[in-house]
Amino acid sequence: MELVLCKWLFAFLLCFWLIFSVAFSVEGLPGNSKVRGVNLGGWLVVEGWIKPSLFDGIPNGDMLDGTEVQFKSVTLQKYVSADNGGGMNVTVDKDVPLSWETFRLWRVSDSVFQFRTSQGQFLTCDGGFVYATAESPLATETFYIERNFNTRVHIRLKSGTYLQASKASQITADYRGTPGWDNNAATFEMMIIANNLHGDYQLANGFGYAKAKEVLKRHRNSFITVDDFNFLYRHGINTVRIPVGWWIAFDPNPPAPFIGGSLEALDNAFSWAQAYSIKCIIDLHAAPGSQNGMEHSSSRDGTTGWSTSPDSISQTLVVIDFLASRYAKHPALLGIELLNEPSSATVPLDILVSYYKQGYQIVRKYSSTAYVIFCQRIGNTDPFELYQANLGSINTVVDLHYYNLFDNFFVNMSTVDNIQYIYKSRESQVQALNGANGPLVFIGEWVNEWNVMSGSQLDYQDFGRAQLEVYGAASFGWAYWTIKNDRKHWDFEWNIQNNYLQLGYSPDERIFSRVLLLGLVCGCLLLHHTL
Ligand SMILES: *[C@@H]1O[C@H](CO)[C@@H](O)[C@H](O)[C@H]1NC(C)=O
Ligand SMILES: *[C@@H]1O[C@H](CO)[C@@H](O)[C@H](O)[C@H]1NC(C)=O
Repeated sequence: MELVLCKWLFAFLLCFWLIFSVAFSVEGLPGNSKVRGVNLGGWLVVEGWIKPSLFDGIPNGDMLDGTEVQFKSVTLQKYVSADNGGGMNVTVDKDVPLSWETFRLWRVSDSVFQFRTSQGQFLTCDGGFVYATAESPLATETFYIERNFNTRVHIRLKSGTYLQASKASQITADYRGTPGWDNNAATFEMMIIANNLHGDYQLANGFGYAKAKEVLKRHRNSFITVDDFNFLYRHGINTVRIPVGWWIAFDPNPPAPFIGGSLEALDNAFSWAQAYSIKCIIDLHAAPGSQNGMEHSSSRDGTTGWSTSPDSISQTLVVIDFLASRYAKHPALLGIELLNEPSSATVPLDILVSYYKQGYQIVRKYSSTAYVIFCQRIGNTDPFELYQANLGSINTVVDLHYYNLFDNFFVNMSTVDNIQYIYKSRESQVQALNGANGPLVFIGEWVNEWNVMSGSQLDYQDFGRAQLEVYGAASFGWAYWTIKNDRKHWDFEWNIQNNYLQLGYSPDERIFSRVLLLGLVCGCLLLHHTL
């Protein structure tokens, strides 16, 4: 009698557990839990701010691709300007430098450059005059820069002729002889006003092929190793989200300046993941042409060309096909994220939706179950736009990135304000999307960092706990950005080792185990009582 009752009780609890865990679970994860993930940022897609030392030793390393410069004639004391931002002539007549007076570098070598205007044209020398009219840069758009120890430069043509600021406020290629560094018409002050792109393009083009290959080989072999997977496993992490660049599909010989070898590293990650029962999300972080103009999408100069070129989009689908065909059957694959952080400023929703639908179909050609993950557009967008788009029918996920940063809105927030924002604003959005009867919800990037300057360890723990609780309720789960970082508060491993982030159990699991325990205790008491 006792045994039969016990069996019934056990069966009841088992059913309860199954129902509970299926309702809140991700297919393919051990124990049908949700994603508790960490991003492997800055590894196969370079981000200089994550590991600045990667760029050490590049000659003229402050003049990488995309660096923004302005030139002031030392004789006229006026700035060089591409009138209307480009497409017209070039003058030396502005007192205050704004966007027309700002040029983005395209680096040919450490002393040879091309100059791009704010409207996208290149400076060109034609008939002794300089215009801002070239759509793409060739020899006539290429200039040699000679730098003095201070900010002074000379600009020379390949023929040896130096440019000068003429009395008529024009730039002409007719300086006689070799200029000195005194105040002469061929001497300009070059102001570097922004130097904030440090991605794969800048690194490879800055070092040149041979040295870049050596630097990236060392980085790919050492930044993330099997030991990191061991660390993640020991701390209950069940998934890694791995940013990759489009050039991975052309390994081992991707188009210049990209350097092969990231595919082998990704293969290694899959093997290590499998050894530690960790799942992998492949995240296409950098698409051809760049989908957001940032270094992590490998933009050459800050422009965003992905959505304006049909070639870029079809090439991106080829990359998705490559990744899906290669990893679909790998036991460690959890999902493929089709495009990281497309910018709402330049990527129209209809173009993105069409790409996402095609990407979904491509992944489904190779796998009926791999999750297909659609990242929200960054900028001022409502993630519901992707829930209304009917992107795919099986195992779809929308990825939201939650940072209490990068916006003036957060600038003066206190510890308490930040935590309340998580509970009010973030939590209600997660709940609304959880209930939207569409793709699962994934907080694919978040960090235990904020604008609070003097946060104590306890403040960080509280902030981290609030985030874990709220993001832990997202139907697909979360992934921390990022595993390692030069800035320690962004560094997952540092956070764990220094007790700034306390992972604990996810709230669902905790409530569940308490209910289970209570059930067992009650059951046994009841049993004991009846007998
Ligand atoms: C530049 O173009 C403007 C408008 O066409 C013209 O007035 C000006 O003279 C031109 N300057 C030079 C240096 O060619
Ligand atoms: C933050 O506070 C400072 C000092 O009170 C103030 O000057 C600044 O404008 C505030 N910034 C924002 C973005 O609210």
